[in-house]
Amino acid sequence: MAGLQAIRYSRGKLEVLDQLRLPHEHHYDEVNTAEEAFDSIKSMRVRGAPAIAIVAALAHAVELHNGACTATAPEDVISHIDARLDYLKGSRPTAVDLSNAIAVLKVAIRAAQIEGLAHPESRDAILNAYFQAAENILEKDLQNNTSIGSHGATWLQQQYNAGPARKISVLTHCNTGSLATSGHGTALGIIRTLHTSGLLEHAYCTETRPYNQGSRLTSFELVFEGIPSTLITDSMAGALFALHRERMNIGAVIVGADRVVRNGDTANKIGTYSLAVLARHHGVKFVVAAPTTSIDLETETGAGIKIEERKKEELTQISGAVVNSDGTVDPSRTARVAIADQTIGVWNPAFDVTPHELIDAIVTEKGTVVKGANGEFDFRQVLPERW
Ligand code: MRU
Repeated sequence: MAGLQAIRYSRGKLEVLDQLRLPHEHHYDEVNTAEEAFDSIKSMRVRGAPAIAIVAALAHAVELHNGACTATAPEDVISHIDARLDYLKGSRPTAVDLSNAIAVLKVAIRAAQIEGLAHPESRDAILNAYFQAAENILEKDLQNNTSIGSHGATWLQQQYNAGPARKISVLTHCNTGSLATSGHGTALGIIRTLHTSGLLEHAYCTETRPYNQGSRLTSFELVFEGIPSTLITDSMAGALFALHRERMNIGAVIVGADRVVRNGDTANKIGTYSLAVLARHHGVKFVVAAPTTSIDLETETGAGIKIEERKKEELTQISGAVVNSDGTVDPSRTARVAIADQTIGVWNPAFDVTPHELIDAIVTEKGTVVKGANGEFDFRQVLPERW
């Protein structure tokens, strides 16, 4: 799996795979400061809701480890950490994992401060509490994803009475795999688990315009894992369902989430909403895979979610490796090319919101949540402590 590890960490050292260079080149950037993490996240060298949170938390751990905080009084250490985390929070606004991680980190350092009151060494206790809480976020994410994989595969297996003689095919959008997380992935984690359980016939992945997380990253992961798969453009999903749903036995669309709010409305990569409408029209189950770190119980409905808008060049230009005349790819020669009039006005929202009415199940690490008789999702069963 080392080839698909987005985040490499040991205490004092953080390396992040530059996803802008994938699939042609594997290059890890060292991330030593909050500023470098901010830049990696904003420029999408690292992306995906869980990975963003992990990189931000660990980058601050690295700078603390390297002596970035010179304060000695516990309250000054707390203020220093708070300020750095608040700065990192501004890197990308839609995914809630980063805000949730920051809240967890702030609670952990305050608990250490209270425990260490009146002890001269409490500065170290606060820093240690920070390191442990940040490293825990990394470890917990991997466990969460493995659990999501098995809960999701079990739910789908039950819906379709799937088995070795009756496998199902699925469609996924964007990239929710090892590259978007600490490993295994969320929606792609379910696909991985279906595959290893012998229940997967075929995985379709969308190109995911404009940033191409599907064609650049998901297709790369699917091929790397040896999962039978096919790439389509976003605009082909309707035709795939209409022409081939029966023949290709497409059982579900499985996507990730950047923020699931209290009523189940879900922000995810732009294009997710269109897929949900198509899925409902064609009687295909629509499944969201989201760790509880992607759930925001403070926001009541999708109308309250801030949607990030990105620069126009993501639509009007594209980059990639040069293809030789014999069809081989030369990874050492990359080019950025214009694919539209450079003066056209552009609207580039990075995410959209799928209303909960269109979602059949939300798979978390603590179990699969479905709507009750009232048509509402109730997250009490997976998040009793935050309800
Ligand atoms: O803009 P991105 O690439 O960060 O968007 C990623 C997505 O929308 C993913 O589906 C989501 O973050 C879940 S990743 C497990």
